[in-house]
Order: sequence, then C-alpha cells, then structure tokens
Amino acid sequence: MRTSVSFCLQIARHYPFCGNGCLRPLSIRGFSINYKLKSEGGHVAGYQIAVIPGDGVGCELAAEGIKILKTVAEKHAFNLELETFDWGCDYYVKHGKMMPDDGLDILKDFDAILLGCIGDASKVPDHISLTLLLTIRKGFDQYVNLRPIKLYPGVQTPVRTASPETVDMVVIRENTEGEYSGVGGIFKPGSPDAFAVQSALFTRKGCERVMRYAFDLACKRKKLGEKAPVGMVTNCTKSNALNYSMVFWDSVYRDVAKDYPDIKTDTALVDAITMWFVKNPEHFDVIVASNLFGDIITDLGAMLQGGMGFAAGGNINPEKTYPSMFEPVHGSAPKYAGKAVVNPIATIEAVRLLLEHLGEEQAAQDVQKAIVGILASGEVKTRDMGGAGKTHEVGDAIKKAILG
Ligand code: IPM
Ligand code: MN
Repeated sequence: MRTSVSFCLQIARHYPFCGNGCLRPLSIRGFSINYKLKSEGGHVAGYQIAVIPGDGVGCELAAEGIKILKTVAEKHAFNLELETFDWGCDYYVKHGKMMPDDGLDILKDFDAILLGCIGDASKVPDHISLTLLLTIRKGFDQYVNLRPIKLYPGVQTPVRTASPETVDMVVIRENTEGEYSGVGGIFKPGSPDAFAVQSALFTRKGCERVMRYAFDLACKRKKLGEKAPVGMVTNCTKSNALNYSMVFWDSVYRDVAKDYPDIKTDTALVDAITMWFVKNPEHFDVIVASNLFGDIITDLGAMLQGGMGFAAGGNINPEKTYPSMFEPVHGSAPKYAGKAVVNPIATIEAVRLLLEHLGEEQAAQDVQKAIVGILASGEVKTRDMGGAGKTHEVGDAIKKAILG
C-alpha cells in the first residue's frame, strides 16, 4: 500500500476504440509518475492497480471494473493509480509471447492486479495463452484462490435447491501446485508408443498454508453462529482412489484442524461434493480443495449462484509479498467481444474482493450493497439474466447506486 501521496492520480490510459469496439491502450508504461510524500499529517491511502483487460470480452469488462474502482476511490477519498497492460492473445500474435519476459518484474510493485479474461483459441491455443494466468498465480505465490459462492436475491439459478437462503459458501482452492504443477512430459510423440505423464505435486507447506487460510476464514465468517462450532471447513478429497496425494492431503487437513477446535471438520469426496452442492447447498460453509478439484467444483458453484456471470475469484498472496490478482471466473467469450452483452457483475464482484484485500472495507461493502440493490430491483438485466441490458448499463446502474 502506498500512503501519503500528495495528489490524486487517476490515470486512465489513452483508450481509443479499436475495431471490435473494445478499449485498447495506445501505449503501455508510457510515462512515469512521481510521488511526493506528504511531510505532515493527512494520511491518504493510495493504490497502484495494474489492469490486464486480456482477450475477448475482457476489454469491456475491465472498463466496468475501472468505472467502479474510480467511483469508490472518489467517494472514499483514496488515491488510485491505474495502469493498463495490453497483454494477451493479440500481444502474442505480435510478439510471440503472452506478456514481456520481465512481466512479473513489471507487476511486482503494484498493490493489486485486475484481470479481465484470457484466451482466444482462434489466435493462440488455450494451453499456451493460459500460461499468462498460471505464470502470475505461481510467480506471485498467489496460493489461495478465493471463490465466494453466494446467490443474491433477484438472481435466477438453474438449480432448484438453490436460493439466497441456501447458497452462501466459499471455496478455497489451492492455486500454485497440486495437479497444476506442470510436472511431466509427452514422450515419443507421434509414435505408436507415445505416452504422457502429468504428475500432481503436493507439498506439506503448500497444503498446510491453504488449509490454514480456509480455517481462518471459517473463524471470521461465523456461519454457524457465535458459539462453537462457529463454522465448518469441508475437506474436498479423493483419498479413496488417489492413495498417495490425497491421503497425504487428508493427513495435513487433520493436523491443521487440531489448531481450530471451534471449527467443525467435514470431509467429502470430490465426486460426492458435486452431488451435495446440488442436493444440499445449505450444508456448506468453507470448502478447501486442491487446484483441479477446486477448479471443477467452482464451475458448479457458479451455477448455484446464478451462472458464470456472477462468479468472481481472487488469486491471493496472503502475506502481501506480491500483488494479488482478481478476476471473473468465466472465460473470454470472443464471440461476444465488442457487443456489450455480457454480464459485468462477476468483474465488479472481483473489484469488491480487490477492495477487501486492500483493506478498503467500506468501499467493498458499498459495492456489494449496490450490486444487491440492482439485482433485487431487476432494473437492468443482461442477456444471461433474461434481459436486454448492456454491459455498461449494468456498470452505470451500480455506479449510480454507489453514489446514492
Ligand atoms: C479458472 C480457469 C483456469 C484454471 C484456466 C483458464 C487455466 O478455468 O480460473 O478456473 O483452470 O484455473
Ligand atoms: Mn475453471
């Protein structure tokens, strides 16, 4: 966090409209900014936020995220400095890489990163383009992938058991190792003897730290009340079949749980969790899952909360050694790019998580209150919600609600 900045910088990069109607920065890192520290009193919080709009609908969504960030910064009088980076598939087409070689170095001093979405298979194969995401997650040790699953009143869900009363949980997904460790290879490619190996790597440290985060969060949420047990952490496992990795994972879970006597323990196999999510969503509070299992169950979770248009995630480095990154969980939907039809709520929810992470609690609450108000009133709905409202109209309505 940067404090005591003497003037308010709100740098919206030069955004011309490009062909498909999305916003593109003309230049990146085009100029530098000088800070002058206030010598006395008047501590004004200030934040440097990196914005990576990415591909497909990422540009128009990032624009809504920025709109909301600027609105709360003005309302709550904190300084905001935004810098936009044109990294993604178009960058790859031009430079042969998704971001510059020193991309992490460029980002490392920002307070947080707002990511639109990445991927456009017509330009770059997904397993290459998505390295941008995975490089940042791993490179900045964002070992917690925080994915709240909450159904707001006024939102339709395809799942009959889901209601605002029953859907209120958080998946804590391990985000740097496990099945995504990238250990393996393709051998004898093209030959009849070809084979592939992909190993999942689980370290004691990696399991323990994400589980502690999950237990700490359950203590904070107090979903079960003020008296013990105040909350519950469900261990999402598959130790009946994965006899090394998940047996190890379970043993770490049991060890960590011992330090949290006020939190109820609960263990469920990942396949069964997909069933219980649908049958009894009200059962869940915090769920801790490995990288791949967390990936899978959060898409189901998105359906419980009304669809991918509502699901946001934070890639968090809790120690704040590195910046954390916030994003909508959904993909880049290139076919909708520039049409202003996608729901910006997932991105605006990501902004809310970003504000929480920065410690701007009041601003985060304002954003949530505004989202809840707009959804409950049904005054503007995008196509996924059965309306004809435009992406920016939803953003504008939320902005207006924040300003009261
Ligand atoms: C997600 C996405 C990514 C993941 C893909 C795009 C690599 O599905 O954030 O859930 O698997 O982590
Ligand atoms: Mn996913």
